[in-house]
Amino acid sequence: MKLTPEEQDMLNGMHGKAAQKSMEILTTLGEIFNAESMVDVYSVQIAGVSYANLGEAGLEFLSEMAEDGKVRVLTTLNPAGMDRENWQALGIDKEFAKNQNRVIDAFAKMGIITTCSCTPYLMGNIPHFGQHIAWAESSAVCYSNSVIGARTNREGGPSALASAITGKTPKYGYHLEENRHSQVLIKVKALVKGTDEFGVLGKIIGDKLVELGKKIPYITGIPSATVEELKSFCASVATYGGTALFHMEGITPEYNRYPKPRDIVFEINQEDLEKARSELIDDDLEIDFVSIGCPHASIYEISKIASLLEGKKVKKEFWITTARPTKRIADEAGYSKVIENAGAKFAADTCCVVAPIKGRFKGIMADSAKACYYSRGRHKFKVKIGSIEECVEEAIK
Ligand code: F3S
Repeated sequence: MKLTPEEQDMLNGMHGKAAQKSMEILTTLGEIFNAESMVDVYSVQIAGVSYANLGEAGLEFLSEMAEDGKVRVLTTLNPAGMDRENWQALGIDKEFAKNQNRVIDAFAKMGIITTCSCTPYLMGNIPHFGQHIAWAESSAVCYSNSVIGARTNREGGPSALASAITGKTPKYGYHLEENRHSQVLIKVKALVKGTDEFGVLGKIIGDKLVELGKKIPYITGIPSATVEELKSFCASVATYGGTALFHMEGITPEYNRYPKPRDIVFEINQEDLEKARSELIDDDLEIDFVSIGCPHASIYEISKIASLLEGKKVKKEFWITTARPTKRIADEAGYSKVIENAGAKFAADTCCVVAPIKGRFKGIMADSAKACYYSRGRHKFKVKIGSIEECVEEAIK
């Protein structure tokens, strides 16, 4: 790889141990993927923050990097394993909380903003069109590439941290124009509305892409989509199809930048949507847990939940997972009070997938196809997908 003098100095250890280690990680990655050079990144988002995933080995790596490592660019974190302020009310044990805080402290020591969220684009870590970034969370990678038109590969925890410390990433994959062309034309011939339905659509498209061995779809037939619907779609298509970029006609900024694919065409109709939805509803289901906010709930979603819960009481464990800054806005707006008076709980900084709750509930209802996928696989819960309205209805039933 061709390195600038500054990058070479980092590699030679002239900017400290953490920068040297980081540049070693990035040059190795660059060589594997035949990158010719590095590119400057505007921001970084780091995943692998939950102590449940990192364990002592991961924490040791972070502590070593934190000895002299300092981030050079705006860097935020993905959800952690617990709400840092409200962990006891969510049933997280003390030992886990202690270890989770050690992880966050190591990140903080490096100058990372310790807001833990998978929706950095809703809380200040917002790239603009064409900017290079190094993000790790799959749903956020998909959103930033597709909806914003920024450029990022899906980074692993160590490579994202290395980019934060150096401000660089190897220029390959989605950083290059030639790799951003769509490969499959998907014609949606059904009415798709709401976060749950966009999640179901993401599952159908994701499954189809895996079957075809393709990555980038060009989607037609969606006349409009909200931020919340797009974030749900991104989470789902990334989960089921490993998709990091899509183009949606009339919706995403690069849809007419590259030629429309002609060779591979796939149609989705109302029946397909209904079938895929039924695959996200298990038999013999006993729902004792409801969760909204995968990806993290926006202030609009929280306002909607507050209006649905006004004057009601929930009868099941009900989590609203969101970013801490969004929760603060909800506090100021009075939404938190309404929601908490109803007995629902905020789980800021975390989510129903990364929290250590395996086996704690029998069945979950969520408006997210991604939450259904991981709740089944990781936590062994039975699942049911539904709209936000249906989730609230279930919680108060
Ligand atoms: Fe975010 Fe957790 Fe869902 S990280 S996308 S809320 S699984």
